[in-house]
Amino acid sequence: MLAGGAYPAMLALGMLKSAPAHAFNLSGNGNGKHIIILGGGLAGMTCAYELNKLGYRCTILEARERAGGRCWSIRNGSINTETGQPATTARFDDGLYFNAGPSRIPHNHELTLRYCKELGVPLQVYNNVNEGAYYFAEGKGPLSNKKVRVREVHNDIRGYMSELLVKSIAHDNLDAALTKEDAEKILEYLMAEGGLDADKLYKASARRGYVESPGAGNKPGKIAGPHKLADLISSGLMDPDFYNVAEYTYELQMTMFQAIGGMDQIAKALQKQVAPMLKLGAEVTSITNLPDGVKIVYKDAFGKQEIQGDLCICTLPLPVLSNVENNFSGDVSRAIDYISYMQTGKIGLQFKRRFWEEDEHIYGGITHTNNDLTQIFYPSYDYLGKKGILIGYYNFNEKAQRTGDLSYTDREKLAMQKGRLIHPQYDMEFESSFSVSWHKTKYNLGGWAVYTSETRKNQYPILLKPDKQVYFAGEHLTYLNAWMAGAFESARSVVAAIHGRVTEQRVSYPAEATKG
Ligand code: ALA
Repeated sequence: MLAGGAYPAMLALGMLKSAPAHAFNLSGNGNGKHIIILGGGLAGMTCAYELNKLGYRCTILEARERAGGRCWSIRNGSINTETGQPATTARFDDGLYFNAGPSRIPHNHELTLRYCKELGVPLQVYNNVNEGAYYFAEGKGPLSNKKVRVREVHNDIRGYMSELLVKSIAHDNLDAALTKEDAEKILEYLMAEGGLDADKLYKASARRGYVESPGAGNKPGKIAGPHKLADLISSGLMDPDFYNVAEYTYELQMTMFQAIGGMDQIAKALQKQVAPMLKLGAEVTSITNLPDGVKIVYKDAFGKQEIQGDLCICTLPLPVLSNVENNFSGDVSRAIDYISYMQTGKIGLQFKRRFWEEDEHIYGGITHTNNDLTQIFYPSYDYLGKKGILIGYYNFNEKAQRTGDLSYTDREKLAMQKGRLIHPQYDMEFESSFSVSWHKTKYNLGGWAVYTSETRKNQYPILLKPDKQVYFAGEHLTYLNAWMAGAFESARSVVAAIHGRVTEQRVSYPAEATKG
């Protein structure tokens, strides 16, 4: 009766309960052992979700009045409290949002996508790569202080570099060991790569866009000449600010995804699963290993509280954990203090008209600049809608530090002042802003862990092991730093380790080298 299409159809109609989700193939039962989880972000909630499936009792302590940690989407009414600033409330139109934390899921983050599926979080494509967006170099050359379409710069540079290589082959400079056949093949490749003409010269083509679009009848379209190589160089467009092309990296590819309605739909779906185990407004103040358990002290609305459990999973970001009283070993304490975190921030700007789409044909993607804004992100939802929120800056390191040191009002001023150089429409269309500086935000104090080869070698392995009854989890305990995938992978890894210890089995995670 349930053969063919009937079973999925009945599931869809809510007539059948779907099979229970299993805790990633682990067998055995935790028999009610009490696991205290510190931090109600993605890592903490995933630990509770998986441990619960295996028969453990969990308590999650989350300092904020909301779960999700950095997986936070800003909508009307969202409140930000940063150190040294008054609380601020987002004033956006209903239905509009921006992701202050994670905003894009790589197609190769299989586990993140699997959790979205298991938790019923619908996804949509996130347009990360857009050659129609701009490069804007503040500098000295003739192309600086002008917005130049990414595709013009990319295709011109590809063309010139190919032409240069063709010339070096012609002069036998490239590699004396090339056979004649190899050299011909390389020439053929370079002509295709650079879009060179029959004379093996770069002359520009439709690849770099039109100044007059092609159309019906007598309208073949008009192509502009290329920018001069010397101008591209002197204007800074070959500097690492631009030519460290983000989209060449493994993660930042087409196709990327986002949760429909805001990335925090993932956090909210997890929260639904772990709600009975989650205590909000519970700020951990001390972690004590006992001879055969763990004692946690926390503050909540009623004052100081204390609970004990069999084991603990601490997912607090390390700069936060560093200020929590504990009786960890010297090695663990040192590792917590040594591993550094990214300074980073974003501002959302609501505009009453989607001028980047209507006037400039930019649908999603990123404009890059070498000033403090670093990047402008165009939204990948509600295309051709009425209003929109774009991310007016998303910056890192010293640029994020300078921006984070400004008041909310001055951050808005900076985003407007630099942004209007690229989009003069800013002035006419602006409605409201909301900014988040992660390294200034209590309970985060940083964007994500940043390892040096030294800390990766000497500190990272220390925190991969438990300190007696306390395990550590979060994106910082993976090679997937700055990704939700890190939180999920780390959570599974620690759940597997705990389950192995409690049930006295050999459990290894990942069972095989995970993809991505
Ligand atoms: N994963 C972070 C991003 O997508 C760094 O920007």
